[in-house]
Amino acid sequence: MPGARVVVLVSGTGTNLQALLDAAADPGYGAQVVAVGADRDGIEGLARAQRAGLPVFTCRVTDHQEREAWDSALTSACAGFQPDLVVSAGFLKLVGKSFLERFGGRFINTHPSLLPAFPGMNAVRDALAYGVKVTGCTVFMVDEGTDTGPVIAQETVRVSDDDDVAALHERIKVAERALLAGTVGRMAREGWSVDGRKVRIGR
Ligand code: GAR
Repeated sequence: MPGARVVVLVSGTGTNLQALLDAAADPGYGAQVVAVGADRDGIEGLARAQRAGLPVFTCRVTDHQEREAWDSALTSACAGFQPDLVVSAGFLKLVGKSFLERFGGRFINTHPSLLPAFPGMNAVRDALAYGVKVTGCTVFMVDEGTDTGPVIAQETVRVSDDDDVAALHERIKVAERALLAGTVGRMAREGWSVDGRKVRIGR
């Protein structure tokens, strides 16, 4: 199967991974998932990858004495699959220096808010607590900060008066899956450039 080689990193249920796998089933998509990595075992994200017949790897922080050693091991594990793009799809770890040295500019993440609003682990809860009427999701280029990298694409989602965290997150994830799969496909087919905080898809 031709196209850009994509390694996907997951920590949970992997519905965003599934969106990428489903999109890549179309030969015209322009990208193929070549491996799936995780920071823990026993998650549905890895099971989805195995059902798709993909190689998987797990890189646990607790298996390493230092965070830097974990970061190097994760970098090597991903590099072994020679990715053009690495996608964090609900991967709940911050990567370090060696990972960003190797994959900076081609490591993207998806986040369930309209960044720079509500970064961090509780974006949906924080948006609800703030009382915003519109939130959404962001696909961005990962940098050294927490959810601070250049924005690649965003989609809005309206907040309902009776939303709770679960209901709102589920609606955001519907938008997020389409945004992530669409953005990765466009990047793979058209290329991209990063100039400061500006990411441009297409040549
Ligand atoms: C997604 O909503 C993703 O944006 C979020 O975890 C979910 C993973 O869902 N990530 C973060 O909140 C990172 N700060 P999935 O496992 O079903 O793809």
